[in-house]
Amino acid sequence: MGQYIIEGCNKLGGSVRVQGAKNSALPILAATVAVGRPCIIHNCPDLSDICSTVKILESLGCEVHRGNNMIAVDSSKLSKKKISDVLMREMRSSIIFLGALLSATGEAVMSAPGGCDIGLRPIDIHLMALRKLGVDICEKHGELRCRCRKLRGGKVVLPFPSVGATENIILASVKANGITTIINAAREPEIVDLAMFLNSCGARISGAGESTVVVEGVERLYSSQYAIMPDRIVAGTYMAAAAVTGSTIIIEEVISSHLVPVISVLEQAGCKIEASGSKLRITAPHKLKAFDRIRTMPYPGFPTDCQAIIMAVASVCDGITIISENIFENRFRHICELKRMGADIRVQERIAVVNGVDCLQGAFVRSTDLRAGAALVVAGLCAEGVTTVDKICYIDRGYDSLAENLSALGAVIKRKENI
Ligand code: EPZ
Repeated sequence: MGQYIIEGCNKLGGSVRVQGAKNSALPILAATVAVGRPCIIHNCPDLSDICSTVKILESLGCEVHRGNNMIAVDSSKLSKKKISDVLMREMRSSIIFLGALLSATGEAVMSAPGGCDIGLRPIDIHLMALRKLGVDICEKHGELRCRCRKLRGGKVVLPFPSVGATENIILASVKANGITTIINAAREPEIVDLAMFLNSCGARISGAGESTVVVEGVERLYSSQYAIMPDRIVAGTYMAAAAVTGSTIIIEEVISSHLVPVISVLEQAGCKIEASGSKLRITAPHKLKAFDRIRTMPYPGFPTDCQAIIMAVASVCDGITIISENIFENRFRHICELKRMGADIRVQERIAVVNGVDCLQGAFVRSTDLRAGAALVVAGLCAEGVTTVDKICYIDRGYDSLAENLSALGAVIKRKENI
């Protein structure tokens, strides 16, 4: 499972390069199944979720070669339409293969992804939308058996701008008969990245990043090479690390326009943030100030994936901060762990009231999910004494070389394996 051992209260300095975005790489790798020809994906982060995705690609008969942050996928030899339960359980976001497999073969069999650490994660919107495109779906014994002679375009209105559902609809409609219009689509930058990849393969997708996305089905797609965009959540994590340690760092390969809500909050806390091109320089004050209430929302609102991380920052701000988690019903599990470090946080359903303390104390804490684990690392960087973050396998799902990058910035953080 592994642990991070962190000696707190060390200033950071220098620069760090942000990895490719996990939540772009996963759907884009799945999309190579719909392309049906060799594709090369660059700037892929080295994550356990990427390994799980590669295992699924290979289990379907795709040929996969991995290089340095590069993954080549040839899905022209696709031979399977079923993803095993074991592989589906390794990573619940494998549901994104549903649309891609339907696009490639007209069939898909996979177990319904269960809930996870942060919520029930239903897929009713995915299934409603795919049925609108002519997919016959039988849900039995925890399995989804999907079949469709020929996917047909249609109008799909989403009750909630679900990221995964938007991605699945795009993947299912990219070679469908006719035009598909998605109303109330998710607007996350990862949707834009997926659409740009597919368009580079000859797809005809317009409006990605807006609430209405139009997909004109094409006969076939073609080989392409594509570089994944930078990970906005990982960039936000390094910004939080600088903020809590009163440091100045430069973050490279970042798209600042993807981080507007996070930048705004850290500026309210007293940080000076200057963006120029793909670089962002953050200078934190000696003492942070509490910031206005945060409500997590679909993009372009405050990202739920930065909620735990910014709560670690709020824990050492001067004053009271209120944070509402509006996207997932169980995304406050980091609070118990932060309180073990001396944080003063009270919770009422989906609202957390954070009363900043002078300094957190190092403690033995446990990651409960990916972003909660990252929040504990941020807290450990500014805590007095030593913090042990246990179960860092969760963090490995989304952070490539986190300890190496933080050490290079001056943090004292070591990884201990096989605990
Ligand atoms: C994606 O998850 C991301 N994962 C999540 O990142 C991110 O937190 C989330 O979008 C929101 O931005 C990947 O891209 C792999 P949703 P996804 O469908 O697609 C409800 C991380 O830490 N919903 O937008 O699952 C759902 O329960 C991960 O990197 C339905 O009710 O998110 C949730 O409350 C965590 N029915 C809300 O919508 C559905 O059919 C948002 O879910 C689908 C979703």
